[in-house]
Amino acid sequence: MLTKQRLRAVQNDSNVCADIEGFDFNAYDARDIEELRRFWLQYGVLRFKKTGISDAQQVEFSRHFGEFVIHPKQKQEGGHPTHQEILVISNAMKDGKPSGAMGNSEATWHTDTWFYERPPAGAILRGVTVPPSGGDTYFLSTYSAYETLPDALRKATDGRQIFFQNVYDKTGKLRLGKSEPGSRDFREWTGVVHPLVRAHGETGRKALYLGGTTEGAWIVGLPLDESAALLADLWDHTTGKQEVFVQKWDEGDIMMWDNRCTMHRRDGFDPSLIRIMHRTTTAGERPV
Ligand code: OGA
Ligand code: MN
Repeated sequence: MLTKQRLRAVQNDSNVCADIEGFDFNAYDARDIEELRRFWLQYGVLRFKKTGISDAQQVEFSRHFGEFVIHPKQKQEGGHPTHQEILVISNAMKDGKPSGAMGNSEATWHTDTWFYERPPAGAILRGVTVPPSGGDTYFLSTYSAYETLPDALRKATDGRQIFFQNVYDKTGKLRLGKSEPGSRDFREWTGVVHPLVRAHGETGRKALYLGGTTEGAWIVGLPLDESAALLADLWDHTTGKQEVFVQKWDEGDIMMWDNRCTMHRRDGFDPSLIRIMHRTTTAGERPV
């Protein structure tokens, strides 16, 4: 009898990602899932190269990592025709309309849906159709961002909370279900308050929590200019000084990230090329 190939995580040249080898999407058991979970918590991002799996298999696989979250874009252009659990990220047009979310534009550094009270714990993103170049996705560790803060900056984050408005998105469009606010001061708009340094719900490790943009973010209690200066320093430190893993996509690749201790961004790409990604998202805890 053939013995099963052992599941392994091979760390990439960064502190945030490992390649998973020896995992068979057609034949895995509870022990394999347990092991993957452990690696996911250990590394932050797991990569599976050229999986060749179907949408149904992706949904089935994702089910083992928590309850599904429906991303707001799934109720808009990012809905999947048959699998409601899947968010479609695509620049392809269908009948003159976008057939997925995000188009071909660059997405700057963020954690997913930071403007929710309970942002997702994880995302599983699969390359369905990928361009020969462009549209790379980058990851960094927000554990490391916190742990490498210079003393003065770390002290400045101590016990602080961060407010994120949730009325407009990063491109200035009203978010689903929101209307124009009455006040000009975004701090009076609706939004959420999270700890600026969060303790991961499963590992207990501390991670810096910057959300997705400095605009419409406020360090609660600080004068606006001081808040803006501190946020600028924290963003510089995080996005300028951390190790970054760059994913250059092949079809079938899967990136599975822990949204509680990582940030990601993606490059824009040539609009004449088609890039289609299918993503499943799992529920997370309220940051503490
Ligand atoms: C996401 C995202 C990056 C990409 O799915 O949350 O930011 O590479 N996508 O499309
Ligand atoms: Mn994202």
